[in-house]
Amino acid sequence: MIYFDNAATGGFKPDCVVSAATAALKAGANPGRSGHRLSIACLERVYTVRRTLYEFFGGYSYDRVIFTKNCTEALNCAILGTLKEGDEVVTTVAEHNSVLRPLEFLKARGVSVEYAPLNAEGELDAEAFGRLVTHKTRAAVVTLASNVTGTAPDILKIKEHLPEGCLLICDGAQACGHVLIDMKALGIDALAVAGHKGMLGLQGSGALLFSERMNPAPVLFGGTGSESNNLNMPDFYPDRLESGTLNYPAIVALGEGAIYLKENMPADAQKVIDMTGFLCEKLQGVHGVKLYSKPNPYGIVSFALLNNQSEFAAYTLSEEYGICVRGGLHCAPLMHKALGSDGLVRASVSAFNTMNECGALVEAVERMCGAQHSDM
Ligand code: ALA
Repeated sequence: MIYFDNAATGGFKPDCVVSAATAALKAGANPGRSGHRLSIACLERVYTVRRTLYEFFGGYSYDRVIFTKNCTEALNCAILGTLKEGDEVVTTVAEHNSVLRPLEFLKARGVSVEYAPLNAEGELDAEAFGRLVTHKTRAAVVTLASNVTGTAPDILKIKEHLPEGCLLICDGAQACGHVLIDMKALGIDALAVAGHKGMLGLQGSGALLFSERMNPAPVLFGGTGSESNNLNMPDFYPDRLESGTLNYPAIVALGEGAIYLKENMPADAQKVIDMTGFLCEKLQGVHGVKLYSKPNPYGIVSFALLNNQSEFAAYTLSEEYGICVRGGLHCAPLMHKALGSDGLVRASVSAFNTMNECGALVEAVERMCGAQHSDM
């Protein structure tokens, strides 16, 4: 089997991640809930991972690193916990439903939401974004890389268009772990992280890092192990946003993923650029294929097989060629609409894939197109 669905969930984990998660499963107590030695050791480990992520992403303070169950929850915390009736928000058509749905929920409750379009190249354009920004814009919500095509906006240029008090909230689902993201250098106020994709951790993990310029209110209420006598959520972070038992093994794994990436990310990114470059070049040349991606460090290459519906093509790749890709809309309906697509085949590679596997995908697509043509 060839796994090219790493944008949905990373298919390969480094040994250090697997062994750290296994050890945490074998000897894990509830961090911060009980006073015994093992619980305290787990809590300390959780704080170590907080610090690791804070350093990895150039965060603002390690108390402002919140563990979530995924990137979606992190985005919900940042968006629903911060924006209120009367606020103006500018976002982009490239966003995932994890941004679109909370924003549309708020739109029905008096928040104004504007969507920046793609340019003729199918890319996000800071100037077009800037034209939607006013002096009252309260937040810009922007993906750091599209999960559909792998196109990435110029965040520094977008930042230039934002008024002083405007928060920059970024969806890092497809970018984190692939490229260096320094929140302070880029002026990002909130960064939502997926643990199980580029960060090489487990499903059920994510994080939200945020600046002192925002103080998200909780969207989930419950026990924190602190101030148990208080019927309201504690007013300090991280506890204010971390109700319920943390996913200790996944948090430990996420920390190990970040440590692994500190050393390996530049070389891994180059491998991914080379593989996406190869796929783009070869697929572009296949008669019957329309390509929607350019070489990128996020591993994403999307294409349409003319006269072959994307889900059906993905099914054929799986069943006849043993290649796992994702078809359909990738939970990003406005991006597809903007591209004029009703679904694409998305191959998403990681540094653990090989050029030979990329060659096998090209060959399979060539055969599918050949078969298709002879049938027509
Ligand atoms: N958001 C994930 C994807 O793009 C699941 O496939």
